[in-house]
Amino acid sequence: MRLLVALLVSTLLIHSLLATPHPSPSPALAGGRRGSEALGFKNATVYDISVAKCAGCGALGAWAESLEFLYYHNLVRLARWELPLAWSPQLQQYARWWAAQRRADCALRHSFPEGQFALGENIFWGGAGGAWRPGDAVKDWAAEGVDYSYAANACAPGRQCGHYTQIVWRGTTSVGCARVVCDDGGVFMTCNYYPPGNAVGERPY
Ligand SMILES: *[C@@H]1O[C@H](CO)[C@@H](O)[C@H](O)[C@H]1NC(C)=O
Repeated sequence: MRLLVALLVSTLLIHSLLATPHPSPSPALAGGRRGSEALGFKNATVYDISVAKCAGCGALGAWAESLEFLYYHNLVRLARWELPLAWSPQLQQYARWWAAQRRADCALRHSFPEGQFALGENIFWGGAGGAWRPGDAVKDWAAEGVDYSYAANACAPGRQCGHYTQIVWRGTTSVGCARVVCDDGGVFMTCNYYPPGNAVGERPY
């Protein structure tokens, strides 16, 4: 099984190496791997896979920011041998719509009413004065992994782990996110997932 997944990952890697470069990479990313490391993308394999899965991520501008969101998601997924997510400009557009709503209050609020989530959604808030980046949000969510018990398919008592289980949810194939600096200087970030994860009673993988 591991071998099969490894094979699949290397196939994806080869595919990414063969893929034509993104039409309009930001100058900082044009240097390829070396540029990627300077930007903090330390894992070249996950970086290459994410670039290949980020085909539409320049559609609404902010290519580097989209790639950063995607890279950190795929770092977590590939460590679990889950297939990488692809960037979705449609989900990004939805996330941007919601982030724009939060600019004025920076409230840590979901875009869907409780129990009526049409998409998966992870949200993050960082206070004014911090240069909160996409990697900060994804690492924060993924850190909940220590509180998830696969055997019980439950979080440790009093803990949250749904952000983590959404990130590694096997049936989820695409993600789109947005980051906004709020009027008070805080930062709000939101990611949407499709198909949505965290189906009640189901295990993530
Ligand atoms: C890159 O990330 C993958 C997935 O998380 C991991 O399996 C691999 O060991 C990492 N490689 C390096 C060089 O850190």
